[in-house]
Amino acid sequence: MVAKEMTERQMEYLEKAREAAVAFAERLGHAPKSYVETFGCQMNARDSEKLRGILLSAGFTDTEEESEADLVLYNTCTVRDNADQHVYGRLGRLGGNRKNHPERIVGLCGCLMQEPHAVEKIKKSYPFVNLVFGTHNLYAFPELLFRALTEPKRVFAIETKTTVLPESLPVARKHGFKSGVNIMYGCDNFCTYCIVPYVRGREVSREPEDILAEIEHLAADGVKEIMLLGQNVNSYGKGLALPATFAGLLRRVCRVEGIERVRFMTSHPKDLSDDLIIAMAEEEKLCPHLHLPVQSGSDRLLKKMNRHYDRAHYLGLVEKIRAAVPAISLTTDIIVGFPGETEEDFGDTLSLIREVGFDSAFTFIYSKRTGTPAAGYPDQVPDEVAHARFDRLLEAVKAGAEERCGRFAGQEMDILVEEENRQQGYVTGRTPHNIVVHLPGSKEDIGQIVRARLTDPRGFYYFAERVMNSKCTVDSKSIAFCHSEEQRDEESRQL
Ligand code: 5AD
Ligand code: SF4
Repeated sequence: MVAKEMTERQMEYLEKAREAAVAFAERLGHAPKSYVETFGCQMNARDSEKLRGILLSAGFTDTEEESEADLVLYNTCTVRDNADQHVYGRLGRLGGNRKNHPERIVGLCGCLMQEPHAVEKIKKSYPFVNLVFGTHNLYAFPELLFRALTEPKRVFAIETKTTVLPESLPVARKHGFKSGVNIMYGCDNFCTYCIVPYVRGREVSREPEDILAEIEHLAADGVKEIMLLGQNVNSYGKGLALPATFAGLLRRVCRVEGIERVRFMTSHPKDLSDDLIIAMAEEEKLCPHLHLPVQSGSDRLLKKMNRHYDRAHYLGLVEKIRAAVPAISLTTDIIVGFPGETEEDFGDTLSLIREVGFDSAFTFIYSKRTGTPAAGYPDQVPDEVAHARFDRLLEAVKAGAEERCGRFAGQEMDILVEEENRQQGYVTGRTPHNIVVHLPGSKEDIGQIVRARLTDPRGFYYFAERVMNSKCTVDSKSIAFCHSEEQRDEESRQL
């Protein structure tokens, strides 16, 4: 069945789910409430917006209180073992409370549900879970919801590969002013530690026209900032009928009127092209932030991880990107305790951190994932060694990040305000470099881009004061940062 027919069929199921939700409301004696919780990455967060969109369209109301929900749905992650354990822990609590909610629908979806051993465990040990579906079945959620509402038996739907992309389904965005947009699904890289290629399947790129139509629609709906999402966005375009590259797509996205900031995640160092670096320098709307996971500073480990680059290649990329976009903010992912990691390998990671000067890093202790090659490597690192290295890693990352973050002190920046701050009279937003800034403001500022001077660096974030009628025109990608008028006058006096 072709994708378009499948989507139409799902819209019909959505109508049927609406009728079934009315009957559900009658059984409950009140309008049904749904609670969706996301575990894991931004891809899952975006999937959850689609799940919520469908639930709202079917007549559910959203609740933030799990205890009062008539439908609880966990969108799971399995990238590390603690993500799995978190879900099982939460299920245990839900099971304990189930007598208070005899009619409640409990659903599980996402990456963990692509693991056969997890599905077996749910079947056997969690009988109150009545809806389970995998990452490749998201497009069919209206149908699965209808079945969960009408069938007495448990519904399990797990496909092993992507056959239909979840296009044209309703979406309930978390934020009005910013949105993630999937440009591709899956991963073909098979890093030896990583479960993602097994649970998310092979890489499939969306058609550029579908992506652009979605972004135009979002812009018309008030969205200012777009985050293009994929496991390896740099290889976007593989397998499409007409050739397309990620750099080309980015340039087209930057042309969409109303969109003011464009971000993307995640880049793989082996596929980062010169064209992309040039686009980052030239396109004003492309934010000066690059998340470029390095994973390790040791060539020996990078090889064992199947990363297809070495330390010198990574450092070469950093040099190129800094030459093109001097003020770029660079962030990364790092794993410690990968099988066979010696003190010398770890030393290479620490020295790479110092050499690059990351603005921030996500740090992880290696977690053994059944089915991946690294799980079978004989030389697993003892827990206590990995934990001790993790603490040292964190110190190194923190020290470097504090130093880097401080470099913007005194500069004027555009801040996209995201939320009210707990401190009354303050709001919180982000610079184009993705640095968090607290500044005076009120809830009317949410979703607005306001000019502020970063007066007070606090390690990883800033306090700022608002700037009215700024005359500053220097862009955020240049190292010649824009100073306030008084500062410029002062500097010119000194010269
Ligand atoms: N153990 C620890 N960290 C992992 N990551 C992926 N798989 C594992 C694993 N088995 C980390 C990588 C990746 C990030 C999303 O999660 O650093 O870039
Ligand atoms: Fe996992 Fe590597 Fe794919 Fe990233 S690129 S999702 S780390 S296999």
